Amino acid sequence: MHLSMVGTGYVGLVTGVCLSSVGNDVYCLDVDEKKIAKLNRGECPIYEPGLEELMHHNTKAGRLHFTTNAAEAHKNADMIFICVGTPSDERGHTDLKYIFTAADDVADMLKSLGPNQKPKVIVVKSTVPVGTSLAVKQRIRDRVGPNIPFEVANNPEFLKEGAAVDDFNKPDRVVVGVENEVAAARMRDLYDPFVRNGHPIYVMDILSSEMVKYASNNFLATKISFINEMANLCEAYGADIAKVREGMCADRRIGNQFLYPGLGYGGSCFPKDTLACIMMGDKAGIEARLSKAVHEVNQRQRDRFWDKIVAHFGGKVGIGGGPTGLQGKKIAFWGVAFKPKTDDIREAPALTLIRKALGHGASASAFDPVANENARAELGPSVSVVDDMYAALDGAHALVVSTDWDEFKSPDFEQVKKRMGGKVVIFDGRNLYKPSAMKEMGFSYYSVGRAAVKAG
Ligand SMILES: NC(=O)c1ccc[n+]([C@@H]2O[C@H](COP(=O)([O-])OP(=O)(O)OC[C@H]3O[C@@H](n4cnc5c(N)ncnc54)[C@H](O)[C@@H]3O)[C@@H](O)[C@H]2O)c1
Repeated sequence: MHLSMVGTGYVGLVTGVCLSSVGNDVYCLDVDEKKIAKLNRGECPIYEPGLEELMHHNTKAGRLHFTTNAAEAHKNADMIFICVGTPSDERGHTDLKYIFTAADDVADMLKSLGPNQKPKVIVVKSTVPVGTSLAVKQRIRDRVGPNIPFEVANNPEFLKEGAAVDDFNKPDRVVVGVENEVAAARMRDLYDPFVRNGHPIYVMDILSSEMVKYASNNFLATKISFINEMANLCEAYGADIAKVREGMCADRRIGNQFLYPGLGYGGSCFPKDTLACIMMGDKAGIEARLSKAVHEVNQRQRDRFWDKIVAHFGGKVGIGGGPTGLQGKKIAFWGVAFKPKTDDIREAPALTLIRKALGHGASASAFDPVANENARAELGPSVSVVDDMYAALDGAHALVVSTDWDEFKSPDFEQVKKRMGGKVVIFDGRNLYKPSAMKEMGFSYYSVGRAAVKAG
């Protein structure tokens, strides 16, 4: 098939690369000229395991192309995938301006091809509030008039950053929303190579398909806020969340996935998708109370963790603030990405904590295995972003572990001690270390849902 992706970000690029891998001819379109120039030089603009190799393989085979020219991308396309961003606006509502601009561009191109074209299927792949794909259809219809044939479908994406290529190639399920059998058949043909392992393609109406994505992300976000709430209760009553988690997760109805306490969720999806459910509820007069609580617990989790840092340095914790004792202190951060195996720092808890530290007169250093470039671009010269995890610790008064990258799991603690001038204070936002081991080494150690260790 001939395909085009509108938006060559995490979703558009991975989708384009993986669909070209099975023999489709794919054009990836973006308005960002620098990104397309980079891709045309053979450089992958994001870090995603396995993506760059696959990208080279398919561009070399002549079936993967990158362009800023919409007409070139779409003219021969059987299917056009809209993969642009759908961020929250300042009110927490989903901002659909990129979706509608993309729809207008597609409409103009359809119109220029005239009424005698084979109907293209316009697939909304971005995560969109329920009703948006049909609004896209109406918008295109209004722009092209009654005689230009086209179909609209919805196809939410479930890939996880850090494992995106694997997730796309071996999906747990493919969800497709359609209005008729023509679009359904095309979607089934497209995804057939990816579901030969027996995983299902669920074909349903467009509204339900849009909702599947929000229901899934909101459920996962709920699990994270739930375990964080339990961790906070553990702290208050002297229980250990690690043991509680073990005991609780042995129940097969509960399971052990996505139930890790920490700094709360970040990234470009869970925060905005939870807000989108709240907004959809408000619009319909059905208050999404659970989503509101999930969001609130998540935001507070960062504040609670920050309070531990403030309390350690003798500052006043809580509403109203007051001196935090951080003036002149240096805080080192291990991990800036919102989770391991990605360079995505959108809504990363580390950014919140780094900004709080700077705002309270501390200096900050940071190291991330792959997100350093993005961290430098986001934070500017106010933070010393270094290329060696131990160098970040030079002269630091405390280390904050903010992302659970593998290389942080068993560090050389002698080196840590040396770099921190003998007095080690660790705020572990990912519960990577054993409190007993920290105690033995004479460190001060704070984690989530477990008793703090205070060096004498
Ligand atoms: N990132 C994820 O892990 C993930 C997973 C599942 C679903 N999603 C959803 O997929 C959508 C895209 O997310 P993303 O993370 O890939 O976004 P992104 O910000 O990485 O990429 C979006 C791209 O679209 C481009 N763009 C914007 N307007 C355009 C236009 N009119 N024409 C061409 N290009 C245009 C931007 O320049 C950008 O490169 C969102 O709705 C998101 O919620 C994301």
